[in-house]
Amino acid sequence: MSLKQQLIKDKLPKHVAVIMDGNGRWAKKKGNIRIFGHKNGVKAVRETVEAAAEMQIEYLTLYAFSTENWKRPKMEVNALMSLLINSIHNELETLNKNNIRLFAIGNINQLPAKVQKELYQAIENTSGNTGLTLVLALSYSGRWEILNAVNQLLNDVKNGKIEGDEIDSSLFNDYLATAKIPDPELLIRTSGEFRISNFLLWQIAYSELYFTETLWPDFRKEDFFKALLDFQNRERRFGMTSEQL
Ligand code: IPE
Ligand code: IPE
Ligand code: MG
Repeated sequence: MSLKQQLIKDKLPKHVAVIMDGNGRWAKKKGNIRIFGHKNGVKAVRETVEAAAEMQIEYLTLYAFSTENWKRPKMEVNALMSLLINSIHNELETLNKNNIRLFAIGNINQLPAKVQKELYQAIENTSGNTGLTLVLALSYSGRWEILNAVNQLLNDVKNGKIEGDEIDSSLFNDYLATAKIPDPELLIRTSGEFRISNFLLWQIAYSELYFTETLWPDFRKEDFFKALLDFQNRERRFGMTSEQL
């Protein structure tokens, strides 16, 4: 039986988040520059999106560029921005064909105007699609998002829109960039690093973490299915005992 056939439909996560890591090392192994790795990561993105859509997963969040990634050499940042513009542009038709809705989280204002334009156009253009929601995390970090939420909350308290004592977990959630999106049940990180790197800090409180040695440009549908299968064999207890479940 293929990996895909082993997957049980009603035990699939609604939301999968991915830290796409290892492009630079993949390129280095091939004796090439880091940007070559980023370019080859696009195929892995395509495969992952297709695999998620095939499994009727509702949300796929891809960590594409972190707040901290701005600290990389200018040439690499520029290349990543160009790659973003081209990829969004080129994939738009496929997104629509597959009923995929694009969404973005992060400090989008910080991105170059051309990226913003391409991104907003694609978000608008796919807004009527009802299949998979593909969320790109761009100029994103969990701490940025939490601080942003706190500042907006403070503003709304000052404006009298909400009372300070109304703030609970659910209200706080509404102020995050992921407000209407359920928390990811599964978080995948490639390239053998065992860290979160400032991704979805609030949302992954109870996510199942899956780490693989595979470098991002080598990641394929089968790798995604493998992660889903692993997820299905976990027991998620949320603080309770096995017997209570
Ligand atoms: C992930 O690959 C892509 C981004 C962070 C934009 P890296 O560029 O981090 O590749 P490694 O980790 O250096 O191999
Ligand atoms: C995390 O990868 C960010 C993205 C995948 C976009 P990094 O390569 O930036 O993470 P660190 O620096 O190794 O923690
Ligand atoms: Mg990395």
